[in-house]
Amino acid sequence: MTQNIIRKGRLMEFDERASRFITSIAADEWLFRYDILVDLAHLKMLCKQAIISQTTYKTLKKTLLYINERGYAFLPKDVDDVHVAIETTLTDEVGPAQAGWLHVGRSRNDEVATCIRMAVRDKLLLLKDAILSLQSTLLKRSAENLSTVMPGFTHLQHAQPTTLGHYLLAHYDALERDLTRSENSYDRTNKSPLGAAAFASTGWPLDRDSTALALGFDGIIENSMDAVSTRDFVIEVLATASNLMITLSRLSEELILWSTSEFGYVELDDKFASTSSIMPQKKNPDPLELTRAKTGTVIGALTASLVICKALPYSYNLDLQEVTPHLHQAINAAIDCVRIVQAVLETLVINTERLADMGSVGFTTATELADTIARTTSVPFRTAHTIVGEVVRIGKCDLDTINQVGKRHVGKPLSLLGLTASDVREALDVSHNIAKRNVTGGPAESEVARMIKARRKHLRSQKRRLSLQQNTLQMMEKDLLDHSDV
Ligand code: ARG
Repeated sequence: MTQNIIRKGRLMEFDERASRFITSIAADEWLFRYDILVDLAHLKMLCKQAIISQTTYKTLKKTLLYINERGYAFLPKDVDDVHVAIETTLTDEVGPAQAGWLHVGRSRNDEVATCIRMAVRDKLLLLKDAILSLQSTLLKRSAENLSTVMPGFTHLQHAQPTTLGHYLLAHYDALERDLTRSENSYDRTNKSPLGAAAFASTGWPLDRDSTALALGFDGIIENSMDAVSTRDFVIEVLATASNLMITLSRLSEELILWSTSEFGYVELDDKFASTSSIMPQKKNPDPLELTRAKTGTVIGALTASLVICKALPYSYNLDLQEVTPHLHQAINAAIDCVRIVQAVLETLVINTERLADMGSVGFTTATELADTIARTTSVPFRTAHTIVGEVVRIGKCDLDTINQVGKRHVGKPLSLLGLTASDVREALDVSHNIAKRNVTGGPAESEVARMIKARRKHLRSQKRRLSLQQNTLQMMEKDLLDHSDV
């Protein structure tokens, strides 16, 4: 059993059941590398502030780098958490006289909050990368389907004709808002709590700004009590991820429906479909079903975190430890789902004929017919709407029927007011319907092409911004792990 370096003063031996119950060591695996970086930044600052000697600095840094290289697997696991595990290993390696200085002016409370913020930053950049790639695919497939006619739905009933290009671009725009929310969360996450210690800071002359800078943060969480007490950044990230998952689940659900025999609009590439162990004919959209399901997992993580944090007294409580695994599971699920949906979409086979055939089914051009009547005869739109409604009920959309019904409502056949057979033919033509809808944001080919062009430009600048953000974090890590001063 590992000697417990933090208990041995105040407490007698620890019940093994309690020890196993309170430890976060397994869940801390992903925080290991961040904890090493936090240790290195803290150590450097302690030396700069002349709180520890150059010799102690060098010994501890060298050993921390060594512990980092050996990795998480070599840490003791029968301790409270990764922070204690690293300090215990350091003590075993260099002895308490020097290792005993690492934790000066620091608590696990500010330490873990710093680690989690760093881990979240990296995850958010991975998420951003995945979203940008899904957006690229959506733009590409949208551009390929500018003139692919399909029925648009409201209430899952055929409503008006549109194009697949317009539909895919709608999902692009939803993802753009998800991305913006993720960037806003990144900005609030990217602040350092380090130096807050347990909650009341410390009497040691720490330089909080310098550790924040060394760790790539763009500022500190100033109030030391606030710094260790809050997980609002986690809740925010989980809310962002939940919104994103809702976007993905809606797209997934539609692709699942569209790949059924009833719809037959799309087919998943074999590479992304599964079959049945008993029904040899089956082709199941498993990745999309799991994306739909993982939406529940992510929302569950958000709900759990909200409830854990609710009414929690200030400042730190171990309840906060219980939030971290939810964050880890949910953010990983969100990244995985974005990636798999991208792959499914990239390879999706589109049945353009079937989509076009269904584009006019269910009188999808009825709105345009009512508009045409109002435009050509000056009959108010509401009256035209009623006339077309009755025509649809009769089930015959020709000039004769329109005239008969129209006469009952306005006293004259509509052709006497200016409606022609060619007006009717044009109104019922699906492509004409789409071409006419060229107001800003509409499905007309020219409008969708314009939107794609603007979004391509925006996407390029987002990708450049992402690589700058990635570089900043890589440089930070490289500097801290640099061996040259020891
Ligand atoms: N494992 C803890 C966590 O994840 C670290 C902080 C523990 N602090 C404490 N005072 N027990 O939150």
